[in-house]
Amino acid sequence: MQLISDLTLLDDLDAPKVAAGDAGGTRRVYIETYGCQMNVSDSEIVAAVLREHGYGLTQDPEAADVILLNTCAIRENAEQKVRRRLDVFRADITKRGRALTLGVLGCMAERLRHKLLEQEHLVDLVVGPDAYRDLPRLLDEAADTGQAAVNVHLSREETYADIAPVRYATNGVTAFVSIMRGCDNMCAFCVVPFTRGRERSRPVSSILSECARLVEQGYKEVTVLGQNVNSYRYEQDGTLVGFPELLDRISRLSPELRVRYSTSHPKDCSDELLHVHAERPNVCNYIHLPVQHGNTDVLRRMRRTYTREQYLDLIERARRICPTISFSTDIIAGFCGETEEEHRDTLSLLETVRYDHAYMFMYSERPDTYAARKYADDVPEAVKKRRLSEIIELQTGIALERNRAEIGRVVTVLVEGPSKRSEAQLSGRADNNKMVVFDRQDFRPGDYVHVRITDCTSATLIGEPLGKTTLAEQAARPAMV
Ligand code: 5AD
Ligand code: SF4
Repeated sequence: MQLISDLTLLDDLDAPKVAAGDAGGTRRVYIETYGCQMNVSDSEIVAAVLREHGYGLTQDPEAADVILLNTCAIRENAEQKVRRRLDVFRADITKRGRALTLGVLGCMAERLRHKLLEQEHLVDLVVGPDAYRDLPRLLDEAADTGQAAVNVHLSREETYADIAPVRYATNGVTAFVSIMRGCDNMCAFCVVPFTRGRERSRPVSSILSECARLVEQGYKEVTVLGQNVNSYRYEQDGTLVGFPELLDRISRLSPELRVRYSTSHPKDCSDELLHVHAERPNVCNYIHLPVQHGNTDVLRRMRRTYTREQYLDLIERARRICPTISFSTDIIAGFCGETEEEHRDTLSLLETVRYDHAYMFMYSERPDTYAARKYADDVPEAVKKRRLSEIIELQTGIALERNRAEIGRVVTVLVEGPSKRSEAQLSGRADNNKMVVFDRQDFRPGDYVHVRITDCTSATLIGEPLGKTTLAEQAARPAMV
């Protein structure tokens, strides 16, 4: 049987996601989403704003009156991909004389608006991540004036708290809920604080009611999202709610609702939060905890605010408080000034922590960032590539060993749908976020199933289903997890 490889997973991260069609609306919008889960969640907000104003979604760009690309600027190749896509759409519009509005949303909006609009006349609409409420007006303006319409204003308040997202690409089982926006961390390599603005948290009550609605609709898992999700803090009437308390409160909405979150910063991973993982059976024992690098000097240059030792202490503490906790991470190879010895510290950190999964990238200089202004991007491309492939090779081996250790165990899988390769098989995630594939039998999406793991690759576990279960039953028999 062929299975998903680590590389496919990485590709998936950069592959565009297309909005499914729906029936409503007189004008048709085609949305293509690039980049992170936050962007996927934002596209659901965009769909909701547009639906209110009579726009329906289409899966077919040929049938669309409006084409929107929700863009990512995190690495140069993400940006180039969107540029190529815009060129394709623009060429088609010109060739066929189509009356169509082409727009750019999201992270590329602010920085590229001058280029896209003035130099290249490539798009009719440029809308930043905090201006989606303004989309209907901007679309009208572009149509009325024949001129490009722009709003790239970044807000200190906007959280879209009152907008119920249109979950157009849903499997009906898992959903994203955005709880904070922006980032104040200013890591030296990262463009996000510039493209998404200052950090702000969404009101507790609106998060809880969105999650409660999802439970009512039969969803079984929520992943709460933010650029720096565990720095969530919302103050109302003199009471402050931090991330651990929010997570605890979401988990109490239903014992059958699994709760995850992404993406977190080590500085905000408190013992209080780790205790919520340990004590709440439906808060998954999994943390995506980006380390970025294994050397303290590089971490200082990256402005990550922790040392290698502090990060390793945190991992140890987490494993003490919550012994079954699983980690994934992000790694950057070839950051400014990285020596061979510093690179080897990343390899040794991977060996020490033994992550279940990692997203691994070559450093790509981004305009306006601290690194772009202060440091030389001086590691040659060939060296960056070689270091990245050493990191990937090592981590793939570790992931395979970690997965092999699961063989013989029984895990609880929340079924998401058919496996990518075969309708005769189902796939879903175990509590530790590992993808598990098994024979369909009579199980359905939304079922919790006990699965005995019999085989694996570095990216997927393969197993035999033993029967349906519930999280409540799980909580009573924790040894099975
Ligand atoms: N170059 C390479 N990788 C980057 N990331 C963020 N900025 C850059 C950059 N300039 C990576 C980090 C981050 C993930 C989302 O993308 O590892 O955690
Ligand atoms: Fe970027 Fe750092 Fe903020 Fe993450 S924490 S979004 S890497 S600035």
